[in-house]
Amino acid sequence: MKVAIGSDHGGLSIKEEIKKMMDEAGIEYVDVGCDCTTSVDYPDYAIPVAEKVAAKEVDRGILICGTGIGMSIAANKVQGVRCALVHDLFSAKATREHNDSNVLAMGERVIGPGLALEIAKVWLDTDYEGGRHANRVGKITDYEARS
Ligand code: RB5
Repeated sequence: MKVAIGSDHGGLSIKEEIKKMMDEAGIEYVDVGCDCTTSVDYPDYAIPVAEKVAAKEVDRGILICGTGIGMSIAANKVQGVRCALVHDLFSAKATREHNDSNVLAMGERVIGPGLALEIAKVWLDTDYEGGRHANRVGKITDYEARS
């Protein structure tokens, strides 16, 4: 498992917490930034992470901004990316099982580091179920291919 991770200034401290967790878990990652607390623009981090996932340079992506919303909107513009904005453990598991989400977005101004870490762990640990969900995910990839 290799992960690309990115944040803006609004998500920096949770990004650092998740990196520590991945270090401890032996999960390989590439950090695309940011590394400062001054104001930056979330698409500058969301798009590089999403592109690495789409190009299969990494298996998954994790993005954190203030709300997670800007990151998820930007990441979902990249073909092949299914970015889920998640702030609870039920959705973290369900979006892997049902949607095969390959990017996780969270908002540091919405949840604290404790919950964010648990969400990231569950999301990284849960497999896609396929089966009846494959047809639904396939309709999304078919639409992207036609666009
Ligand atoms: C930055 O102030 C904030 O807009 C950003 O972190 C994010 O919440 C955007 O969706």
